[in-house]
Amino acid sequence: MSVNETGTRAKAPFTGIAPQARAGAAAPAATETVIELKGVDIHYGKAHAVRGVSLPVARNQITAMIGPSGCGKSTVLRSINRMNDLIPGARVTGEVTYHGQDIYGPGVDPIAVRRHIGMVFQKANPFPKSIFDNVAYGLRINGMKDDLADRVERALRGAALWDEVKDNLKKSALALSGGQQQRLCIARAIAVQPEVLLMDEPCSALDPIATARIEELMNELVREYTIVIVTHNMQQAARVSDATAFYSAAIDDAGERYGFLVEFDETQRLFSNPSDKRTEDYITGRFG
Ligand SMILES: Nc1ncnc2c1ncn2[C@@H]1O[C@H](COP(=O)(O)OP(=O)(O)OP(=O)(O)O)[C@@H](O)[C@H]1O
Ligand SMILES: [Mg+2]
Repeated sequence: MSVNETGTRAKAPFTGIAPQARAGAAAPAATETVIELKGVDIHYGKAHAVRGVSLPVARNQITAMIGPSGCGKSTVLRSINRMNDLIPGARVTGEVTYHGQDIYGPGVDPIAVRRHIGMVFQKANPFPKSIFDNVAYGLRINGMKDDLADRVERALRGAALWDEVKDNLKKSALALSGGQQQRLCIARAIAVQPEVLLMDEPCSALDPIATARIEELMNELVREYTIVIVTHNMQQAARVSDATAFYSAAIDDAGERYGFLVEFDETQRLFSNPSDKRTEDYITGRFG
């Protein structure tokens, strides 16, 4: 993404891999929509797993996706940066736009999409390489080799890991604790300066202290990034997010199970005054 002379953000060029310029960008309106899903349907082969999801993702906010297991949260999350492309038989229809641009449109390079919209997974998945090389990985494959050491340091600082690893950058990433590995994966994701971070249950394998650490970090990161997080932990959604999407699953007339969006609202309203009975049942523990 580039910044033009007036200091405002230019539309993201998906076909290019130019590093993003962030400094000097005009302050965004709080409610600017970065990503929008419109009537998104997702199939795995013949199974119509997710049906008719529409929601906006606002800039510099944390959007949470909650709901019972199997309702399609991970599937929807993966559709936002074309990770479903990597699953044989997965098919996304409807529209997913990034700054108004259809990310499934002709000529759009999925690798460039993932440069702008990064992802952190449930289970920390560092490569069997050094701490430094893990963070440098995306920079190297994207040709962002200038000031490599500086960029790595910045990413590790951004992920609140620098102080713990700065004297051991050559050490294997696999020797870090689970919470440190997850922060390393966040550092690896932010090293290439994406605009959006997708996180699929990033704390589910962590203890409460490491979880609190990651939540704190999300609160820091959201100043610079737009975050979408899937979580099973409703308290976490309520604590960290600005907006929440509640999904559920149902069985259609043919007996096929599918996931759908029940309600999307400001987090505070969704948890205090949901407009749908199914949301109320879920958040009060009567379901799921
Ligand atoms: N790779 C895949 N191939 C085939 N079907 C899949 C695949 N991934 C998910 N599904 C199906 O899509 C539906 C939604 O799954 P998904 O993993 O998105 O749910 P989820 O809400 O993330 O669940 P959980 O909370 O357990 O992680 C399920 O019926 C699941 O079996
Ligand atoms: Mg999931």
